[in-house]
Amino acid sequence: MTAPPPTPPASGRGEEASLADRLARAITLAGPIPIAQFMAAANAHYYATRDPLGAGGDFTTAPEISQMFGELLGLCAADLWDRAGRPHAAWVECGPGRGTLTADALRAAAKAGFAPPVHFVETSPVLRAEQARRVEGATWHDDVTTLPDGAPLIVVANEFFDALPIRQLVRAADGWAERFVACQDTLFLPVAGKPVPAEIIPAALRDAAPGSIIETSPASVAIFRALARRIAQQGGAMLTVDYGYEGPAIGDTLQAVRGHAYANPFESPGENDLTAHVDFATLAAAAMKEGARPSPVVTQGAFLRALGIDARAAALAKGAPARARGIVADRDRLTIEMGTLFKALAVTAPGWPLPAGFAS
Ligand SMILES: C[S@@+](CC[C@H](N)C(=O)[O-])C[C@H]1O[C@@H](n2cnc3c(N)ncnc32)[C@H](O)[C@@H]1O
Repeated sequence: MTAPPPTPPASGRGEEASLADRLARAITLAGPIPIAQFMAAANAHYYATRDPLGAGGDFTTAPEISQMFGELLGLCAADLWDRAGRPHAAWVECGPGRGTLTADALRAAAKAGFAPPVHFVETSPVLRAEQARRVEGATWHDDVTTLPDGAPLIVVANEFFDALPIRQLVRAADGWAERFVACQDTLFLPVAGKPVPAEIIPAALRDAAPGSIIETSPASVAIFRALARRIAQQGGAMLTVDYGYEGPAIGDTLQAVRGHAYANPFESPGENDLTAHVDFATLAAAAMKEGARPSPVVTQGAFLRALGIDARAAALAKGAPARARGIVADRDRLTIEMGTLFKALAVTAPGWPLPAGFAS
């Protein structure tokens, strides 16, 4: 991840300058910055300063919609652990939000005898406090480098990689250029910046029409590779669920969300949730380079159905008839509304079985 801009002195009124002010000053002094630097600075500030999840926040995620999501992932992990010979494995969640997924997953997994130590990779102090309220005895990490060595890792990441910075490359009239963020008056806007060599553009897309945009996420690839390397060496598996595609592809997927509505990603940096779609094909290829085995990419709808969401919804509805319609609506939101755009990818260590839900 690229570094945020240097912090300028506080403003003349004795108040600390806002992130927008600091970015504007840095761009005015040193020129436009890459999209990745803008996104990294904006999301670092955004997540460090709030709990954005839920009805009163900016967006909702699958574990916040229904306990079924975390429970099914927990049962999937417990089944995998059982078929791998019940090793002393650790549970890792990257970007755990409020800790809801892990709380639901480990409650369900414990019923199958799987009660691993918990490790959270989380940078936000606000969300660490939420996670501590829901999950006892977790260990927190700023990044994946300090995760435990030796033991197999069962890693889960839901809507984590979409929050990591992307580069955008735009086809200009005379070749490809990296997209930068400029500042005019107080408005941020994207501009074509430094030319990039055509060789870094996937061959199939090199002759795309002027104005075409392709995205890469070196930050996501670096973290995914580091996790895949550990899994290949220590044993275990990683389950990634996010919205995305199997690239390479043309398209500008950078988006901002605030108060459950789309916003301009270049407006009010640090006050909107900035995301981009995840390229699962690139992540799968990165895992293979580290000696781990990627599964086929499946849709979230197919994955949750294969794990038994219909039976779980029916059981929950039977136990709480007054909530039955809501439970069915939540199931449909997870499997239909979010069912196709959201996808799941598993990565396993050599010799480890494929998790349930990915069988061909
Ligand atoms: C969209 S939220 C997803 C939360 C949760 N997984 C869920 O499904 O509800 C993104 C999460 O990733 C965390 N995060 C964002 N950037 C991060 C980074 N560079 N390193 C570690 N955690 C990060 C955020 O603080 C937050 O917990």
